[in-house]
Amino acid sequence: MSKAGRLVVLVSGSGTNLQALLDASADPSYGARVVAVGADREGIAGLDRAEKANVPTFVEKLADHPSRADWDAALAARIASYEPDLVVAAGFMKILGEPTIGAFPVVNTHPALLPSFPGAHGVRDALAHGVKVTGCTVMLADSGVDTGPIIAQEAVSVLPDDDEESLHERIKTVERRLLVDIVGRMAREGWTVSGRVVRIGNQTGGESK
Ligand code: GRF
Repeated sequence: MSKAGRLVVLVSGSGTNLQALLDASADPSYGARVVAVGADREGIAGLDRAEKANVPTFVEKLADHPSRADWDAALAARIASYEPDLVVAAGFMKILGEPTIGAFPVVNTHPALLPSFPGAHGVRDALAHGVKVTGCTVMLADSGVDTGPIIAQEAVSVLPDDDEESLHERIKTVERRLLVDIVGRMAREGWTVSGRVVRIGNQTGGESK
């Protein structure tokens, strides 16, 4: 990636990770900027945050397409129209299909220490299992559910009185900082993937395949 890397960020909810990326990219030295925000549903705070920051938005709802394959193709075409260097799935609650995964490097974030507790309820599942340490994972997305090569992880302790909400909020504080740090470093330094091992740095451009 050269100059300010172009980010398309995908959201499905409150968009606090998106907000952290928007805030970071206000500083040109960050090395990346959000050029568009896409969602799979309307009426979410994530889209409001983008509009407030004067970033273009788009919505592709699965229900508006005759098949999942059509939705995948439409989403990829929308993303492509913004010519991203990197796509960031920041709380995007759909599995991305080959048209997107195959065309762009996609960074995904998950509120658990993968490979433990993948899927939509990573925080709830970790609590139910009784783990004492969980955390967050930033990874490259592949076609599976939270199975892509891991870029970075950070641990968060589970406290005795935690419920899903309190634990998720503490994880998200760490997750936002980690995501901003990793996306910025990928934009500024490039990255390589060898098998499942991702390395950031000493690269002129990103390479994810
Ligand atoms: C994050 O914890 C993300 O990992 C999970 O959903 C949360 C999204 O939070 N999939 P936000 O929409 O960025 O506030």
